[in-house]
Amino acid sequence: MIPRALALIAAIALSTGAAHAAYPERPITMIVPFAAGGPTDVVARIAAENMSRTLGQQIVIENVTGAGGTTGTTRAAQSKPDGYTIMMGHMGTHGAAPAVYPNLKYSPTKDFVPVGLASGTPILIVARKTFAAKDLKEFVSHVKGNSDKLNEAHAGVGSVSHTTCTLLNSILGAKPTRVPYQGTGPALNDLVAGQVDYMCDQIVNLTPQIQAGTIKAYAIATAERSPALPDLPTTKEAGLPEFQVSAWNAIFAPKGTPPEAVQKLNAALVKALDDKTARKRLLDLGADIPDVPGRSPEALAKLVDSEIARWNKVIKAK
Ligand code: MLT
Repeated sequence: MIPRALALIAAIALSTGAAHAAYPERPITMIVPFAAGGPTDVVARIAAENMSRTLGQQIVIENVTGAGGTTGTTRAAQSKPDGYTIMMGHMGTHGAAPAVYPNLKYSPTKDFVPVGLASGTPILIVARKTFAAKDLKEFVSHVKGNSDKLNEAHAGVGSVSHTTCTLLNSILGAKPTRVPYQGTGPALNDLVAGQVDYMCDQIVNLTPQIQAGTIKAYAIATAERSPALPDLPTTKEAGLPEFQVSAWNAIFAPKGTPPEAVQKLNAALVKALDDKTARKRLLDLGADIPDVPGRSPEALAKLVDSEIARWNKVIKAK
């Protein structure tokens, strides 16, 4: 009788403990919807490494590629909303994709809860090292005159590189052969190898190669130069002011994720972005680190709404 009563008490204690166990109790999966080594992956790994320390549990990166990032994003949207699957999305997956894919299997607003903005990533126009143009003016005239013979690399329809170069090509009236990759990590490898001619890509993927002189960079499509690449002119300075565009990376969780989990994830992200080492790694690559108000879930929800509206206009106008 006594042992049975003790067993009952122990069982109640255990189940109560489980109900109140602090999140997270086990590793968290962060889906990156592009290839390893590319810009989304790099930002995700810098953030996840630091967030893991704060959360006391490992955030494990899983690269789920395909369809311009929408395959991995669909997987994230359909994951169990328990705080153990999150994703690093971006301007393409949560901004441009609804306009690009009429039958998209997820809604960036209805199927996700925003966790927080991780970084802003300016867009650069880059080409293989041997490309026949020394500056942006020559690039523009060469692409205008020869686009049918050129290959432009991108990370799949709807990705950042695809949508931003759609904009560039339309400004230039260019119709290159558009070559899709599973991410701009592998696309950049082919650019360095000279197998493709040019691309529009996020600065965090490009800075080391530009510094090493293995590719040509023509301009940054933001209002200001980047401290990471101070010699690179803006598109306005270099003669193409119409091409102004920038991207971003942000963490999302599937809709229905418990608010306590979202709050803990956001707090860990906020802390990561104030960490000296994580900040330096991001800034050295040219990322813009959001200010504290810009890191909140509410700020990210507003950004997503405005980006969906912006890209809807841009894509429909093409
Ligand atoms: C990547 O991580 O490969 C990129 O974010 C792809 C892109 O959207 O251009």
